[in-house]
Amino acid sequence: MEKYQLKHSKKLYETLHETLVGDVASSFHKVPYREFPIVMTHGKGSKLYDVDGNEYIDYILGLGPMVLGHAPSALNKSVEDQLKKGTHFSAPTVDTIHLTQKIIDIIPSAEMVCYQNSGTEANMLAFRIARAYTGKKKIIKFEGQYHGWSDEEKITIDAKSVEELGPRENPNKILSSKGQKDDSGKDIIIVPWNDFDRIESIVKANENDIAGIIMEPIMCDSGPILPKVEYLKKIRAFTKEKNIVLIFDEVITGFRVSLSGAQGYYGITPDVTVLAKAIAGGYPFAVVAGKKEIMNCGVTVSGTFNGNPLGTAAALATIHELERPGVYERLDEVADLFINGFLNLCKKHKIKAFATHMGSIIIFYFGYEKSPNDFRDWLETGDFNFYEKFVKACEEYGVRFTSRRGRQYISTAHTKEDIKRTLEVIDIVFREIK
Ligand SMILES: Cc1ncc(COP(=O)(O)O)c(C=O)c1O
Repeated sequence: MEKYQLKHSKKLYETLHETLVGDVASSFHKVPYREFPIVMTHGKGSKLYDVDGNEYIDYILGLGPMVLGHAPSALNKSVEDQLKKGTHFSAPTVDTIHLTQKIIDIIPSAEMVCYQNSGTEANMLAFRIARAYTGKKKIIKFEGQYHGWSDEEKITIDAKSVEELGPRENPNKILSSKGQKDDSGKDIIIVPWNDFDRIESIVKANENDIAGIIMEPIMCDSGPILPKVEYLKKIRAFTKEKNIVLIFDEVITGFRVSLSGAQGYYGITPDVTVLAKAIAGGYPFAVVAGKKEIMNCGVTVSGTFNGNPLGTAAALATIHELERPGVYERLDEVADLFINGFLNLCKKHKIKAFATHMGSIIIFYFGYEKSPNDFRDWLETGDFNFYEKFVKACEEYGVRFTSRRGRQYISTAHTKEDIKRTLEVIDIVFREIK
């Protein structure tokens, strides 16, 4: 197998470097192991193509949204039809009514819905709703969980070491961008994941202050780290008892773990749900949905492009495709093929690893053989150097994984043939880098 050349990407980078802040449009476009991003030309199905003519089997999938793969015909058709009718009216359409009802029908917590354009904004709105409804101020969030890039969200989303996180009983509020206000974390309380006793004691100590708890029910953005189901159940019961709004950030898990997200999968219904990424198959679109009583608490919902017709058409088409019989079973089958093949190769090459999948989210780590309990455990036990070497080497043979934060994705366009080729590459890569 030949390794790829990236001559043109490198050359184009020289221009980007001069004119684009941070060299990329989003910090996630940059990888730690190469000084320039690969410049892409187009994608189709499970594949992406770059300016040097290289083809990649893509497991990054635009950081998650492309659940139907790249340029899916059904979605393109709906969006093209809408393009002819107009892209933005600042008024509802008949499709707004259809989509809203569809979300209410499939997402267990959704009784009322509002629209936004990104997960960041939608989570900010969820914070505001929790505060307005309860009349309280503080939001509990978990170490290592990412909910967006705003001042209040981007706190303790990452750490280089457990020491940097500080004491477990009172973790540090780590800001991760220059320009974040020093007091960004004033009303945010950070707790470790999968530890109900910590939540209970924090709530007792701040009895009248906690408006909401925000969580990724499956901690996907670092790890991923699976929840203990009992833990989720206990938090659900406890937040009800204490009048705390439980927010599920299903920006990643929504439409991927199941059609009804992680809440449908576990049978645990939060008060408020945030959806983005996969809901519109690659168009910027986000939803905050929840119980009528909470959603109707008087918060105004602003935003020029909220519920715009293109995003609405894309979301309706994506959900329509995902609702087809057998779609999630087929995703499971393809993901199983990957996981089994991957674990067999780890065994063959004597590489310590853990691998599983939750619907179309693929999870693997190197360095340990079980799911870590929390972010600290993950930081301490993961072999991140090996992960990075692995991702780099796979990319050179045309298989594109995301590095470090751990979760990979498949789409409805990924085939068993893609998995077979991917496993052939992984076999070569393990031999080369181990
Ligand atoms: C779990 C989670 N929540 C929220 C966000 C923010 O969404 P967006 O990038 O659309 O603002 C992300 C983005 O990666 C995410 O992974």
